[in-house]
Amino acid sequence: MNLPRKVKIVEMGPRDGLQNEREIIPAPIKIELINKLTLNGFAFIEVGSFVSPKWIPQMADTEDVMAGIRRKSGVVYSVLVPNMKGFEGALLANAGEIAIFGAASEKFSKKNINCTIDESLARFEPVCEAARLHNIPVRGYVSTVLDCPYQGVVQASETARVSKLLFDMGCHEISLGDTIGRGTPRRAQEMINAVAAHVPIERIAIHFHDTYGQALANILACMELGVAVIDSSVAGLGGCPYARGASGNVATEDVLYMLRGLGIETGVDFEGVLETANFISCELGRPPASKVARALATVETA
Ligand code: HMG
Ligand code: MG
Repeated sequence: MNLPRKVKIVEMGPRDGLQNEREIIPAPIKIELINKLTLNGFAFIEVGSFVSPKWIPQMADTEDVMAGIRRKSGVVYSVLVPNMKGFEGALLANAGEIAIFGAASEKFSKKNINCTIDESLARFEPVCEAARLHNIPVRGYVSTVLDCPYQGVVQASETARVSKLLFDMGCHEISLGDTIGRGTPRRAQEMINAVAAHVPIERIAIHFHDTYGQALANILACMELGVAVIDSSVAGLGGCPYARGASGNVATEDVLYMLRGLGIETGVDFEGVLETANFISCELGRPPASKVARALATVETA
């Protein structure tokens, strides 16, 4: 196998995870979660989003969360922004990075951000321009890169087209989201190859939801092609409010366990992440979704 020696993990729990909780998690708990993740050694943490509170009430307190966290120098605390209003929030909150988020399927774009793909790209242009003026790096998400909950199979060529447009707009990294986790390794590789024809492989991140239990297999398949940036969520928190039934991102501790077994460096403290997974799961009143956290809990109590 041809695998990277080192992988960058982008921790999604506070944003992709908690945005999908039915109950709104109080800001002090989010702050404690992010402070713990900082201590766990993550260099990239997605804190929240500046989106319409009518659409995603779970993220309405992102300003308070950004103001309350203990920041560590060298750690990038990022937020999602869908438009200029979101960008202004991110700027005031002193975000280290922003992320714009589009989709490869028209129907998902409409459901998630209430506009067509072309309209979304037009909205992102001034955001990228403003970010450039303020020296804020921009990450670009493409959702539904393999399948759409409303439209079915998505062509790799369409995923590649949107990825290229976001990259050309100035996104330094393109995160490819299997929003409903239906993808399998060969299709994932075909999609990565299509995107890599336009976006350098080192600029590609993978964002697998684990709905069908395929995330680790897909990650391994993509790493074989040279992808070395992985989005994951502590305790497997999350989903997507506009993709019913989508379960969380692949769990960070499951990814770390696999990478450790493969001898791949991440800079993240595995045991510390397990503790953080137990902390947030306890707050949510349920066990962590990850196989690894459950297995280790069983071993400890056996
Ligand atoms: P809209 O209703 O078309 O927007 O929503 P609008 O411009 O007509 O404005 C309507 C209202 O929203 C106005 O307020 C605006 O001020 C307000 P009102 O006058 O009615 O009181 N508004 C805002 N408020 C706060 N922050 C803002 C903002 N913008 C407008 N930035 C909009 C369009 C994009 C705003 C809306 O659809 C939205 O907020 N969508 C966000 C959806 C979302 O956050 N989804 C989850 C994240 S994406 C994801 O999870 C996928 C990912 O993980 C990858 C993967 O897994 O695939 C990234
Ligand atoms: Mg997601």
